Amino acid sequence: MSNPARASWGSKLGLILASAGSAIGLGNLWRFPYIAAENGGGSFLFIYLLCTFSVGITLLFAESALGVKTKSDPAGAFAWINPHLKFIGTLGVFTSAIIVPYYSVVGGWIIAYIAKSFCMADIGNFETHFSEFIASPVSPVLYFYAYMLATAAVVYMGIEHGIEKFCKWMMPLLFLLLLVLMLRVLTLENAWEGVKFFFLPDFSKITAESWLDAMGQVFFSISVGMGIYITYGSYVKDDTISISKTMWPVAVLDVSVSLLTGLTIFPAVFAFGLPMNAGPSLTFITLPAIFADIPLGTFFGIVFFVILLGAAITSSISLMEVVTTFLCDQFKMTRKKAVAAYTALCLVTGTLVSLSFGKLSGFKIGGKILFDQFDFLASNILLPVGGLLTSIAIGWILGPEKLVVFKNKILQRCFEFCVKWLAPVSVLAILLNALGVI
Ligand code: TRP
Repeated sequence: MSNPARASWGSKLGLILASAGSAIGLGNLWRFPYIAAENGGGSFLFIYLLCTFSVGITLLFAESALGVKTKSDPAGAFAWINPHLKFIGTLGVFTSAIIVPYYSVVGGWIIAYIAKSFCMADIGNFETHFSEFIASPVSPVLYFYAYMLATAAVVYMGIEHGIEKFCKWMMPLLFLLLLVLMLRVLTLENAWEGVKFFFLPDFSKITAESWLDAMGQVFFSISVGMGIYITYGSYVKDDTISISKTMWPVAVLDVSVSLLTGLTIFPAVFAFGLPMNAGPSLTFITLPAIFADIPLGTFFGIVFFVILLGAAITSSISLMEVVTTFLCDQFKMTRKKAVAAYTALCLVTGTLVSLSFGKLSGFKIGGKILFDQFDFLASNILLPVGGLLTSIAIGWILGPEKLVVFKNKILQRCFEFCVKWLAPVSVLAILLNALGVI
């Protein structure tokens, strides 16, 4: 399957960093805390970890191995298994087109935070400032455009240059700053209540919806279910790399950033007496409160949000890259045209999504505003369905033994069992359970 003209990573490290860049993003720092809060904290953490290290990691390995093997975009990769399965890859393209608009709206909020740093001056009112800001008709939309164009610019420049170096610096810095913030917050009065909330499970809080939310969060956070790792794997030259050895750090890093975030946001919520049910605004309300309370807070705040912006962009890039590779491989478009066409589409949908906090807030589907509806549809439905179809295609049609993930025989058998049974059965059970069918 090798095609000498196809671009490739500079090194194995390039693949690891770009994958970690894809996994670590707003899913950890923005989505994880508020979804965990909505589901009662500790109990959610427990099922989140369970889903990550069972279904999540299985799909991470399976997708990467398929990409390395086929050297093709997701549609081509599934068509290689069986021409009738091409639609699974195409479904991923659709999923990306749902995620990119609202993800980028949140990305725009970060740029706004940096640009204005308005929250520092008057922290007492930040909660109202923030809700007013996201509901206004013009400025969040403009910030969203800025974020979208920045993402498009990076994808436009291609695979090898930029992403690799960018991630190498950004990710360790993000980690370090989170650590500093966490230590600061943990020494505040009442912080311990937040730690307890985050760690102590209350299993009576677990409902069918919590399982669906946890699985949705895992798929979203680790970036599986829509062919990112097929795409990234397709740019690997060396077919003999060990997939498991290369990719396990991605899962571990992803979970670590979520844990650090939880250990920062929840103690802060308790220590500052902030609202726990702030939904998508949670991180944007708690973090400024922390920064207002530490020496040189404004400075640290800006540095932190700049890094967060970097982490978000490395994720958006991966989402956009799937569609770009698809348009280039399937429709023989040039990279330039593919990026331009897709960006134009996202600018239109994203505008509607941003307005759903204000002017369009009356427009609801199933009781949810467009923003929440897009997020629910992508994370809780499309990604799990994508993962389910992927595991069926690999486990039952291709045969999991065709993808060598572990060099060790016993571990390889475990992987095969997980792709064939564990992943599809648990995803299906959770989906049906949430739908009330079982
Ligand atoms: N994982 C990223 C985050 O946590 C978001 C993301 C990037 C993503 N690529 C994806 C989510 C692919 C689902 C599928 O922020």
